[in-house]
Amino acid sequence: MFKATSVKAALGATESTDTILVNGWVRTRRDAKAFSFIEINDGSCLKNLQVIADAELPNYVDTVQQITTGAAVSVKGELVASKGGGQSWEVKATEVTLVGAADASYPLQKKGHSMEFLREIAHLRPRANLFGAVFRVRSRLSFAVHQFYQDRGFVHVHTPIVTASDCEGAGELFRVSTLDPANPPKTEDGAIDYGQDFFARPTYLTVSGQLEAEVFACALGNVYTFGPTFRAENSNTSRHASEFWMIEPEMAFTDLQGNMDLAEEFVKYLIADVLEHCADDLAIFGKFVDKGLLERLKFVLERPFQRVSYTEAMDIILASGREWETSVKWGENLQSEHERFLAEEHFKCPVTVYNYPKEIKPFYMRLNDDDKTVTAMDVLVPGIGEIVGGSQREERLDVLEANMDRHGLNKEEYKWYLDLRRYGSVPHSGFGLGFERMLMFVTGMANIRDVIPFARTPGNAEF
Ligand code: 4AD
Ligand code: MG
Repeated sequence: MFKATSVKAALGATESTDTILVNGWVRTRRDAKAFSFIEINDGSCLKNLQVIADAELPNYVDTVQQITTGAAVSVKGELVASKGGGQSWEVKATEVTLVGAADASYPLQKKGHSMEFLREIAHLRPRANLFGAVFRVRSRLSFAVHQFYQDRGFVHVHTPIVTASDCEGAGELFRVSTLDPANPPKTEDGAIDYGQDFFARPTYLTVSGQLEAEVFACALGNVYTFGPTFRAENSNTSRHASEFWMIEPEMAFTDLQGNMDLAEEFVKYLIADVLEHCADDLAIFGKFVDKGLLERLKFVLERPFQRVSYTEAMDIILASGREWETSVKWGENLQSEHERFLAEEHFKCPVTVYNYPKEIKPFYMRLNDDDKTVTAMDVLVPGIGEIVGGSQREERLDVLEANMDRHGLNKEEYKWYLDLRRYGSVPHSGFGLGFERMLMFVTGMANIRDVIPFARTPGNAEF
């Protein structure tokens, strides 16, 4: 069979070609006097390839003129320099085959659609220019993640998706169970007996691969995970998904400083990679989604991130004299409005906030000498707020055990985790970068639902 050429390759050709085969979906078709112009797109790039189908073609009236937006076609013809403006090459068709017709009910006709409407047709929206661009950038960004760590000698670890531990201790877990919900086995005191469940214990979808990544860092040195994570957190915001992907590096013999350095280098690397490799796709975001996008990305690349302690950040927030929707004081979590104020208005650049109060952070973070704060760090970026969350881990067995007691954790269940502190314990650090939040940052897309192929959010798991 004759091998098809992608639209991207055809448009990037250096010379004309006698015979070329191109497959794709019709974006538009319009008739001139003696021929028909068909714009086809195959998802390989943002641009369409223009096909000129001559009225002399044997199936011109029966087929070519019946082709409508959304139809799948196969075109054989000659790749020639385009006479019209706007494209370098076009195809002069010798054969047009209608592979799959689309009728007038095809929802993606040329007119613009709202993001909400496009979410309802998540099975068709990848064929819209904007979403083709989003998902090509997503693919490139994913590749760049691996390239960044592999180039630096980090080992990729596949941490489990089903787990028995709640890493973040927030209780936002999706239970994994094969018990009959209508008739679960009970213990003597009437509770559900998860001892009889599939894994003979309560299990959940993981909220983070960190604890398992720590195991591997304490053996292989520098490691990273990149996988789906799940949170049954009932927050319906533009930045929260119930299923999202996270990249979690973990480094042995590394303190908070080294951790903050890596986070900054990583975020900048991803921006630079996308600017270099996805220029066409980024241009559409700059045009239709966020006019200041390219300028902002370049600005972020060029400057060091600000670093402030939580205490300094709180002073700045309190001194701002603003009316907040949620007021805060030392010891409380920063809300998104405070995070965005720091990054967008006060510093006007990404900010790394470190040393948070121990009460508001998980059990595994290293206690500072002040006995009040832990070595947490969050990277906050304009437009989004928190994009990275991490810490140096508590490597001292006695302090970790005290932290676990304070958090009401059962030390028996974390025996394996405590063993890391029992045998050859080392200072180690890591963080999690929310992949979708990073994608929102580089594309300017305002809602996390629009950078995931099929978003899972409270009340929503269609497709
Ligand atoms: O700050 P988080 O909860 O940190 C952890 O899970 C650590 N165990 C990571 C580590 O140290 N290895 O989550 C990390 C990042 C956040 O900064 C945010 O970018 C993203 O994950 N994130 C979410 N993204 C989308 N939807 C949600 N519901 C998210 N929750 C966190
Ligand atoms: Mg966090």
